[in-house]
Amino acid sequence: MSNTPKLELREVSKSFPRASGAPLTVLDRIALSVPDQEFLVILGPSGCGKSTLLKIIDGTEPCTTGTVLLDGADVTGRPGTGRAMVFQGADLLPWQTALGNVMFGLILRGVPKAEARERAMRYLEMVGLTAFADSYPHQLSGGMQQRVGIARALAVEPELLLMDEPFGALDVQTRDLLQEELLRIWERDRKTVVFITHSIEEAIYLGDRIVVMGARPGRIETVLQVPFPRPRRESIRDEPEFRALRRQIWDQLKVGAQAAPDLAGAPA
Ligand SMILES: Nc1ncnc2c1ncn2[C@@H]1O[C@H](COP(=O)(O)OP(=O)(O)OP(=O)(O)O)[C@@H](O)[C@H]1O
Ligand SMILES: [Mg+2]
Repeated sequence: MSNTPKLELREVSKSFPRASGAPLTVLDRIALSVPDQEFLVILGPSGCGKSTLLKIIDGTEPCTTGTVLLDGADVTGRPGTGRAMVFQGADLLPWQTALGNVMFGLILRGVPKAEARERAMRYLEMVGLTAFADSYPHQLSGGMQQRVGIARALAVEPELLLMDEPFGALDVQTRDLLQEELLRIWERDRKTVVFITHSIEEAIYLGDRIVVMGARPGRIETVLQVPFPRPRRESIRDEPEFRALRRQIWDQLKVGAQAAPDLAGAPA
């Protein structure tokens, strides 16, 4: 096996032009190497550039300087079939059924209709939604919509799964349930995942490593290894080691957030 990482970011920086004054730098020379089959979680204060970074990895947002490598190949600024994104708000097509939404990306990628249908049903089954294949997004709960979003991303069988706070808008029970479900699905073939969250517990429960980012301009404060073996048990949340790691990350986030009044709760 080669040592080429699945994903590598080399000195990725991003600034947005402003109507007046200097450009706004939101990412400052991010360097990151993600091995194949890793579940990497990114935590950081609001506005530190997490979503921007994920879009840069996805290729839908250009970076100002730096390089994004997928399997060693330069994919900077170029979206491709190897990557799929799950957004916070599921972002489904309202005029398509659950099945139609999952099939959509496959059809776009040139998969013949019958095969797309069969594959979409398989992934809907994986997320427990077979009975709702013909329902429209507005007929589904938030958690179900999020499941469709996950099925849609998984169905294209991406090498790299990018998830931007996919469970952020859900209630705690649904969130816990979907975390477990995601791990169960992920255990099957362990595709490389980059997962963004605001929840420290979610980060520890899901991740192999946790990248803690600091406030603007976004930079990596620290990278932590999660020591718990897989498959993960729900009960690790009660272990002293889990609580100690949570405390350590929380302290790190506070340091990183000092320049981010939005996280500290102070007026912006
Ligand atoms: N298209 C854009 N044009 C100008 N500024 C932008 C644009 N997109 C993002 N920004 C700015 O970049 C910064 C980072 O935004 P981003 O959405 O990446 O943060 P985030 O870490 O995902 O925050 P949150 O945790 O709240 O989702 C913010 O200051 C935001 O205002
Ligand atoms: Mg974001």
